[in-house]
Amino acid sequence: MSARTALVTGAARGIGAATVSRLASQGYAVLAVDRAADDPVLPYALGSEAELSAVVEAVRGRGGEAEAYVADVRDPAALAAAVADAERRWGGLDVAIGAAGVIAGGAPLWEMPPDRDRAVLEVNLHGVVNLARAAVPALLRRPRPRTGRFLAVASAAATRGLPMLAAYCAAKAGVAGLVRALGAELGDTGVTANAISPGSTDTPILAESARLYGLPEAAVFAVQQPVRRLLGPGEVAAVLAFLAGPDSGAMTGAVVPVDGGLAL
Ligand SMILES: NC(=O)c1ccc[n+]([C@@H]2O[C@H](COP(=O)([O-])OP(=O)(O)OC[C@H]3O[C@@H](n4cnc5c(N)ncnc54)[C@H](O)[C@@H]3O)[C@@H](O)[C@H]2O)c1
Repeated sequence: MSARTALVTGAARGIGAATVSRLASQGYAVLAVDRAADDPVLPYALGSEAELSAVVEAVRGRGGEAEAYVADVRDPAALAAAVADAERRWGGLDVAIGAAGVIAGGAPLWEMPPDRDRAVLEVNLHGVVNLARAAVPALLRRPRPRTGRFLAVASAAATRGLPMLAAYCAAKAGVAGLVRALGAELGDTGVTANAISPGSTDTPILAESARLYGLPEAAVFAVQQPVRRLLGPGEVAAVLAFLAGPDSGAMTGAVVPVDGGLAL
């Protein structure tokens, strides 16, 4: 049996995939969860089943332990089943990471198609609420002394008013508020709740953001970050992996910028 187990949503590509890979390389057994299908209301491709399988196969190829699990974070029952699967497979859950996310925008809020804004709020905010509801009880089922970790991926958009991304900003600010409250609720249980706020990171969601702003390519976003480059998903995953580990026990309810200075 592996030393520590984790469930990661949004695992087919980008930050979620990099996090699966990083945790597995550190000896975690990881349930890699993704919708693995496009959303008909969104005009860009989401992660695919083939990408999700490739993430898991790459882990196995390096001798690590990971399983693919198709579930939509908007579906509380599907997430409960995913958590139950991880517990059954590996005897318990130590870490849950909500990285699944979508973006829509490109117009002021009052001109946005309501179904697109709804998708953004349902996936990016309710999806994290659903994950917490399903996973926190499992983290608490571990015997004391615990080092359970609930983690969510917010965004620099949680604290900045980005024009033409109002629902995205609202959802990410909601995630920040959620982990602050969860951190307070979890108190001295040994389970903590934290979030990270990435800056512009080189993944497909950033390419879609560039398209929404009419920019030629995502690389243009580099100029707004003091480090003057896009972040790599592996750099963001490295911080998530630290927060997932037992050494982050002094942190709870924190929203950690991982943004190359974007929020300065
Ligand atoms: N890339 C950036 O610049 C950036 C910046 C700040 C925050 N973020 C956040 O980081 C997280 C990861 O994004 P990414 O950059 O890796 O983007 P990405 O588009 O590469 O990956 C997102 C993954 O989430 C999955 N997903 C989407 N909807 C889902 C659903 N309903 N259920 C389950 N899975 C679903 C997609 O299939 C995809 O595999 C997101 O929450 C995003 O908002 C990204």
